[in-house]
Amino acid sequence: MPATLNSNPDEIFYRGADSFFTSNSEVGLTFDDVTLATLYSDILPSQTHLDSRLTDSLQLNIPVVSADMDTVTESRLAIAMALNGGLGLIHYNMPEREQLGEVSRVKYHVQGLIQDPIKVTPDQLIGDVLKFIEEKKFGFSTFPVVDEKGRLVGLLSGHVVKPRYAAKRVAEALTPRSQVKTVTRKELGDDPIAIADKFFTEYVGIHKLLVVDDDDRLHGLITMSDVEKITQERKAQFKPARDAQFRLICGAAVSATRNAFGELDRERVLNHVGALVERGVDVVAVSTAHGHSKGVGDTVKVLRAAFPELPIIAGNVTSAAGVVYLADCGANIIKVGQGPGSICTTRLVAGVGIPQMTALYVCSKAAADKKVSILADGGITKSGDIVKALTLAQGVICGGMFAGCTESPGEVVEIGGKLYKQYRGMGSLSAMNAGSAARYGHDKRDTTRKMAAEGVEALKEESGPVDRVLANLIGGIQSGMGYLGAEYLEQLRAKARYIRVSPAGQREAAPHDVVELKTRN
Ligand code: XMP
Repeated sequence: MPATLNSNPDEIFYRGADSFFTSNSEVGLTFDDVTLATLYSDILPSQTHLDSRLTDSLQLNIPVVSADMDTVTESRLAIAMALNGGLGLIHYNMPEREQLGEVSRVKYHVQGLIQDPIKVTPDQLIGDVLKFIEEKKFGFSTFPVVDEKGRLVGLLSGHVVKPRYAAKRVAEALTPRSQVKTVTRKELGDDPIAIADKFFTEYVGIHKLLVVDDDDRLHGLITMSDVEKITQERKAQFKPARDAQFRLICGAAVSATRNAFGELDRERVLNHVGALVERGVDVVAVSTAHGHSKGVGDTVKVLRAAFPELPIIAGNVTSAAGVVYLADCGANIIKVGQGPGSICTTRLVAGVGIPQMTALYVCSKAAADKKVSILADGGITKSGDIVKALTLAQGVICGGMFAGCTESPGEVVEIGGKLYKQYRGMGSLSAMNAGSAARYGHDKRDTTRKMAAEGVEALKEESGPVDRVLANLIGGIQSGMGYLGAEYLEQLRAKARYIRVSPAGQREAAPHDVVELKTRN
């Protein structure tokens, strides 16, 4: 019906998602094509809450996930993401064993009571312990020593776990039981952290508290640095994202690996994910460029049947049918995005893909029907893009935003006195040669066919620690929510009103007609 003069002008110009996107159905829109209208607000940015439940068992305290890319997420970045309340997806461009080690590093990073601490035995050589640390990629080197019945014999302290002592037995190097301070499980009561905190203040210089039962069998370990971090984080607005055992959460990408006959390699996929689950992985991502495909669907089905409770992310798709297909196969979280990424060339090379806001709207409709979550994957270059994405999705995945961070694995290069980090698409030739070819439907062993790259190799300016980058992003999301009067993300989704922006409007949105002295952030 045409608008009449008596109609509410806000309703005519600033439309809710259904009305806005259906009336723009002939054009693909992305972040910069739209802007959000402000609404009456009694919410200050600092009063907003950013927690987002992706599945019944997987909750983020900020709705931001770092991409499973080999120049973005390994354990260091995943730890920083989880400490800030988000999630890191460890990439799979590495041998499976290495990926398991990366997941372990995240899961072992900060804990309250470590229920089942890694132990050594008196007859082991220090050299074996060093090998064990290297193999498992442990970031610590102090171990309780137990006998064959699990009874505490002493503590092997990190300062004797050195190559110089490799030929010595643990029994010769340990601090004996009589000198090791312990508490019993009963003494820990309901608040182990408070008891441990008191213990560390009382016993100067002791940094590890061992927990034993009445028979002196080892039942846990609490470290002073963990207690300090936990005490600090109780005061933080956005708390670290943790599992039920107080370990940081961590995700890992898995590939839809095919065997020599081109069929899904069920056994390999199941063994890989089984090992990830043993290490405590919180979610796996079946990550490919084309998620609405038999290979991805079959992988998700196999995983869902074997691991009924495991949260599964699958993608990428940009259609409602793609969301329905993956949800029916058993995925709980669907990645939306084909070609929006800063290093992507899929749209140029293959001529396919959908601008991100339109894709998110279309997918959000199917996701609501199927009761699954969606993650907006790719194309995010500023916090405003995240606010827009969160009006339709439960979270965002960023690659480029974190590739320049200190914690990302990319190599640092200096050009003209400035520091940059390497950032490459997982569909770039070098990444595919390193293992990600399956993600783009190619086989890296097949040298007879030419693989078409769908990504570029690039550089990102060094952007400092993740904490700083995330603080800016979180501040922006909170501002956006404040402007829309949304205390929670569900309210942001319910309240959002959109309007298209002209090219002149886009220019107006960025600083203009001034000489910038200080660039933003
Ligand atoms: P941003 O924009 O955050 O995008 O840097 C990260 C996302 O881009 C996807 N990705 C690719 N897409 N070719 C593509 O078309 C590639 O080589 C490529 N590598 C990553 C992926 O979804 C990632 O999360």
